[in-house]
Amino acid sequence: MKIIHSAAEMQEIARQLKIQSKIIGFVPTMGYLHKGHLSLMSRSVKDCDVTVVSIYVNPMQFGPKEDFKKYPRDIKTDLKLCRQQNVDYVFIPKDAQIYPKGYMTEVQVKGITDSLCGKFRPGHFTGVCTIVSKLFNIVKADIAYFGQKDAQQALVIKKMVKDLHMSLKIKVLPIIREPDGLAMSSRNAYLDDKQRQDAVLLSQALKKAKQLIEQKQRKTAKIIFQMKRLLSQSEFATIEYIAIVDADHLSEIKQLKAKTKVLIVLAVYMGRVRLIDNILVKVD
Ligand code: PAF
Repeated sequence: MKIIHSAAEMQEIARQLKIQSKIIGFVPTMGYLHKGHLSLMSRSVKDCDVTVVSIYVNPMQFGPKEDFKKYPRDIKTDLKLCRQQNVDYVFIPKDAQIYPKGYMTEVQVKGITDSLCGKFRPGHFTGVCTIVSKLFNIVKADIAYFGQKDAQQALVIKKMVKDLHMSLKIKVLPIIREPDGLAMSSRNAYLDDKQRQDAVLLSQALKKAKQLIEQKQRKTAKIIFQMKRLLSQSEFATIEYIAIVDADHLSEIKQLKAKTKVLIVLAVYMGRVRLIDNILVKVD
C-alpha cells in the first residue's frame, strides 16, 4: 500500500493507471475509519482493479461553530485498517495543497441542499461538493463509493456528477450498524456511556416509523409524533429534524401514497453530539 501526500503525484499515478486501462475505485473519507468505511473499501477492492482511499478532514464543509478542530483523527489506525482491506493507495493531502492561497472556486448544488442537513448546516454541501469534485479530478476515479448513512450527501453528489457530466459511477452502500442498531459514525466516539446507551433510540424511532407504515398509517405527522415520543425518553436527545421525504428528490410528504419509496431521516443531538440516521421504506 502506498501513501501519497502530493496531489500532483496522486494525479500522475492515476494517469498511469488509466493508460493501463485499470478501473480505479475510490473511497473518500475524513478518517477515523469504522466498519461503514471498511464495507466501502472492501466493495471497491472487489469491484475494481485499484482502490484509492482519501483521508482528509475538509475544513470547507464545517460551519464556524462546528467540530472541525476536534473531529477525531487517528491516521496510524486508519492506515492499518486500509492495509488490512488491501487498499492500494491512501491519499492524505495537506490543507495548503487543497486550498492554496488565492483559492477561489466552489461547487454548489442547489435545491436539494436547502432542506434537512443543508438547512441546519449552511454551506456544508458546497464544502462537500467542492472537495469531492477536487478529489475525483485528482484520483480520476471510475467508481466512487459512499454510505447511505449520509443519504442527502449521496443524492447531492449523484446530482453533481450528473449535472457536471462527470464520467464516473457513484455507488451507495447500506448503513452498517452496531449490534444494538446505532448507525456507525466517526462521531459516535464523542458519546459518553449514557448518551451511547440512549443513542439506540434513533434507530428504534426509524424502526417504529417503518412499523407504523407497514400497519397502514399514511399520515406522516402521526408517524413523526410517535418518533418524537420515543426519542423524548432520553434526557440527552434534542431533535434537530425528523422528516419523511421522497427518496429521490427529498421533498417532504404529508400523506403517504401506495407504491412509493420514502426516506425517513433524522438528525438528533445526544448532548452536544449531532447524530444522523435514516431508513428507506417502500409503501405498499
Ligand atoms: O462523508 C464524508 O466523510 C465526507 O463528507 C466526504 C465525502 C469524505 C467529503 O469530505
